[in-house]
Amino acid sequence: MRPERARWLASRAGREALEGLGAGLEGLDPAGLAGRLRRTFPAEVAAALGEQLALRQRARERFGELPVMLYTAEGLEMMTHPLVARRRAARVAGLGLAAADLTCGLGGDLAALAGAGVEVLGVEREEATAVLAGANVRGRVARGDAARPPCDLQRLAVLVDPGRRRDGRRTFDPAAFSPPWGRCLELLRSARSGSLKGPPGLERGAVPGWCELEAVQVGRDLRELTLWAGEGAEPGLRRAVLLPGGYELDSRAPASGRVEPRLGRYLFDPESCVTRAGLVEQLAAALGAWRLDGQVAYLSSDTAARHPLSAAFEVLETVPFGVKRLRALLRARGWRPAEIRKRAFPVEPEALRRELGRLDGTPVTLVCTTVGGRRVAAICRAAREGRPEGSEGR
Ligand SMILES: C[S@@+](CC[C@H](N)C(=O)[O-])C[C@H]1O[C@@H](n2cnc3c(N)ncnc32)[C@H](O)[C@@H]1O
Repeated sequence: MRPERARWLASRAGREALEGLGAGLEGLDPAGLAGRLRRTFPAEVAAALGEQLALRQRARERFGELPVMLYTAEGLEMMTHPLVARRRAARVAGLGLAAADLTCGLGGDLAALAGAGVEVLGVEREEATAVLAGANVRGRVARGDAARPPCDLQRLAVLVDPGRRRDGRRTFDPAAFSPPWGRCLELLRSARSGSLKGPPGLERGAVPGWCELEAVQVGRDLRELTLWAGEGAEPGLRRAVLLPGGYELDSRAPASGRVEPRLGRYLFDPESCVTRAGLVEQLAAALGAWRLDGQVAYLSSDTAARHPLSAAFEVLETVPFGVKRLRALLRARGWRPAEIRKRAFPVEPEALRRELGRLDGTPVTLVCTTVGGRRVAAICRAAREGRPEGSEGR
């Protein structure tokens, strides 16, 4: 977005024009919306208003209801999920420190911090984004470079969420983030306390031992690996977090290293936040289960158990893997694979579904994996017995 458009949107005239738009415009397709707005406004104003309406709609689709904000397409793409931002903000608020968000973008995290009662300063390099962030968050937003923060980090909780786009495309190389990952770590280390947001796929080697690590998931999506350091953080601690329930498991919990290449009556599939935080052994202990293989995250047991950070299944039947054999078994039992899960297995679920062809009957879950060097398919149904154990929702 050009800075002039951002400045107009953030101005009183822009705000009043946006607020004055009738509800009848929602749900119109882009061409219909542009036509309607051009009947009332000059072309540039109509384009600016139309863009905001379309981006608000996209924000609602991505995140559900959100406080009304001013957006850019790229800023919305990079914005922290509001549930994750609120959780982070609550933790920062617990420190009782003022906070600086050194890469504040449109202010997703910054707004959550301000909403949690934290005194905030936002820093943003890109001009239009900084203007909109200033309008979105009633705290102060300065245009500047995170690498040269306009504040004393030793007195503050800092937040760094580096840009992961280059030339309009996502980059997965931490050295190409903005600021680069190494610089982000220096900023985190020099602050009194702080949080650095990394992508879900961040290599564990990029997480230094002086940081605490959280793998944060919303629903089925792993959203980020968060590094915490300084005051309030425990170096080396790993935690899995599942939102919106607020379920947690961390590396202080008892662990079980039991491995047995045998499928018992129950099968457990840990949530991604558990595997990314390296907490499969802690989950195994909480469930009273064993690992099928030291390299694979599936767990099994002969007794029913539940944990909010794992899917739990009752195993109906297990067969050595082979498409023909599997198809014949499913047909004979009247089972239809409603869901196919796999770990350490070379066939993609969609390809397997195509190979199995059309099947009718009772919905089951097919779990494909390798146990003791042999490929197996377990036909399962969601476990119904057992009470949740382990972590508590917060
Ligand atoms: C991932 S976004 C932040 C999103 C934000 N956490 C939110 O929830 O809205 C990263 C932002 O950092 C900005 N940025 C990148 N490099 C920067 C730097 N060196 N100094 C300040 N801001 C920077 C980008 O322009 C982008 O807006």
